[in-house]
Amino acid sequence: MEITVDRDIRIESVKEIHADEIFELTERNREFLNKWLPWVKYTKSKKDTLIFIEESMERIKNKTSLQTTIFYKGKTAGLIGLVEISYIRNVTEIGYWLGEEFTGKGIMTKACEAITDHTFINTGLNRINILCDIKNEKSRMIPERLGYFNQGILERDGVVNGEFVSHYHFVMWRDKWKKRKV
Ligand SMILES: CC(C)(COP(=O)(O)OP(=O)(O)OC[C@H]1O[C@@H](n2cnc3c(N)ncnc32)[C@H](O)[C@@H]1OP(=O)(O)O)[C@@H](O)C(=O)NCCC(=O)NCCS
Repeated sequence: MEITVDRDIRIESVKEIHADEIFELTERNREFLNKWLPWVKYTKSKKDTLIFIEESMERIKNKTSLQTTIFYKGKTAGLIGLVEISYIRNVTEIGYWLGEEFTGKGIMTKACEAITDHTFINTGLNRINILCDIKNEKSRMIPERLGYFNQGILERDGVVNGEFVSHYHFVMWRDKWKKRKV
């Protein structure tokens, strides 16, 4: 899957050839990302990123997730993906991150809009969840800008760096998204 989001932004299903640049981006942004994302400290070497990509490629084949690399002006800027797809429950969840040097430009809001479009146009899925740490204002702004609906707080919904975190639960449904786009 490949989507040209605009003149500067492109998203593409993760591939082995992306591994070095994704790992280097993770390495440069370790402190920035580790505050919010539980996997960062377990990503210690290029091998770890490569394993993640190989697993993601397998899951793309099985249609159980869809991870994509975000390119900004040709440079690897971050990842966005459907981290879990359940065709039985008709639902998926979007997860995302950017290198700090790529923030503040609207890249993620546009990528998230594009992947929401892709999901409702090209899959039969009816609902997309986005879970944002209640302290992560920059993350929360993304579903808010796109008109996702805040369903409230999931208390102690995960653990990051040994601490429980609570999430805002944002949702978009196929019919609401269609109406919003008219
Ligand atoms: C969450 C994260 C992706 C948000 O990044 P971001 O740069 O704030 O989000 P966007 O790329 O959508 O950019 C929005 C910013 O660009 C600005 N912007 C510029 N042009 C814009 C446009 N055309 N459309 C939207 N925003 C635009 C916005 O004003 C906003 O800046 P502000 O926060 O200073 O007001 C980033 O902070 C991150 O990766 N954090 C670490 C990992 C993480 O938290 N992941 C989420 C876990 S739930």
